[in-house]
Amino acid sequence: MPVNDYYHTNAQGHLTIGGVDALALTQKYQTPLVVYDVAQIRQQFQALQHAFEQQQLDYEISYASKAFASVAMYQVIKQLHGHIDVVSGGELYTALKACFPCQKISFHGNNKTKAELLLAVKNRVGVIILDNFYEIELLKQVLAETGSQVQVMLRITPGVSAHTHEYDQTGQEDSKFGFDVKSGQAEQAFLQVQTSEQMELIGLHAHIGSQILETTGFELEVEKLMRLIHEWAQKYGYQPQVLNLGGGFGIRYTAADKVLPLETYVSQIATAVRKWAKKYGLAVPAIWVEPGRSIVGAAGYSLYTVGSRKDVPGLLPYVAVDGGMGDNIRPALYQAEYEALLARDPAAKSSETVHLAGRYCESGDLLIKKLPLPVTKPGDVIAMLSTGAYGYSMASNYNRVPRPAVVFAEDGQAQEVVTRETYEDLVSHDRFYQEK
Ligand code: LLP
Repeated sequence: MPVNDYYHTNAQGHLTIGGVDALALTQKYQTPLVVYDVAQIRQQFQALQHAFEQQQLDYEISYASKAFASVAMYQVIKQLHGHIDVVSGGELYTALKACFPCQKISFHGNNKTKAELLLAVKNRVGVIILDNFYEIELLKQVLAETGSQVQVMLRITPGVSAHTHEYDQTGQEDSKFGFDVKSGQAEQAFLQVQTSEQMELIGLHAHIGSQILETTGFELEVEKLMRLIHEWAQKYGYQPQVLNLGGGFGIRYTAADKVLPLETYVSQIATAVRKWAKKYGLAVPAIWVEPGRSIVGAAGYSLYTVGSRKDVPGLLPYVAVDGGMGDNIRPALYQAEYEALLARDPAAKSSETVHLAGRYCESGDLLIKKLPLPVTKPGDVIAMLSTGAYGYSMASNYNRVPRPAVVFAEDGQAQEVVTRETYEDLVSHDRFYQEK
């Protein structure tokens, strides 16, 4: 159901994003179009900064750029004095293009290649988050070959799975990520890293899941990690500088999502860290978090143009738009739910319920099932809300459809920050087959 606390309109009653008329944006940049309200991105980031300041903790906010990565996005985080995490050579390369300070980059991933580690080490990234034994060996080789030093963290699988969608659970023991605590792998990794003079283990990392709408999982995560630190402090005299708790703060997609203020996550985390530090007589480490979705999710809008319509007697109509699973695979992949509204009159009363269908050749390409809408006609613009995280970043060229443009809107001004792909772009990597 369309909501009105979550969007703005202008004097004509049109949806506005960052103070810019959504219809004017679609006229200028066509559809499908991804638009970010940049002020909202800043507000989310600053809300987290403020929450940590209130708690008087040492902290860093490391934007998980897999949620949405582009040169312009990295520029915004740089302006906010934030850190970023990257998970591939491609994200790292993009951050380098944006002149993002390398010291503020953490490099993640469960299968980083030697070439990626080399790129990271040569550019002196701040931290490499070690995920597995193979990587420890690979990094040792890279450091030996380049004669470099690097700060590392160990990604721990703490055995906590936050209550969230199955695909997003990465904290439980049966996971492809990180070193398991229970089986002793985490300790083995700790000892292996200690043998290297070129790696400095600055702390531990864990990530328990995504779109988490309660705090218990984070409290448990802190408990498990602090217990591990206590053990290693007693056995080996280890004292980490940093405890990186990963990302996962949830956002509102539909009215069913009961979101918590970001301050609540931070205050609960701070309370838990202090409690366990006191109990075990440990110094309170700096707390790092890696939010992705909560920084960009609600700030992003997908604008689509209505095209065909299929009415089937006795069934709900299908209203098709010019985008779909190629620019937002989340509904098809995770049965993710969204709200959408008519950009020319978001407050208009809905008069029918439709399935909002994508344009891709797959029956599962439905952006929103059972969406209440006013009756639409071809050419109407539909705005899907809260599509800013893992939408464009997971986009594909399925069906050889070019990926949309991305626009940043702020203070009534809009700028294209990623241009729309062209058909020529699509064939630019193709080569003719030389038949014998
Ligand atoms: N840190 C690590 C190590 C992660 O694996 C992730 C997300 C994050 C931080 C950021 O989490 P966030 O704050 O965005 O929840 N494609 C899925 C989400 C996958 C999340 C993967 N890891 C989706 O569209 O829901």
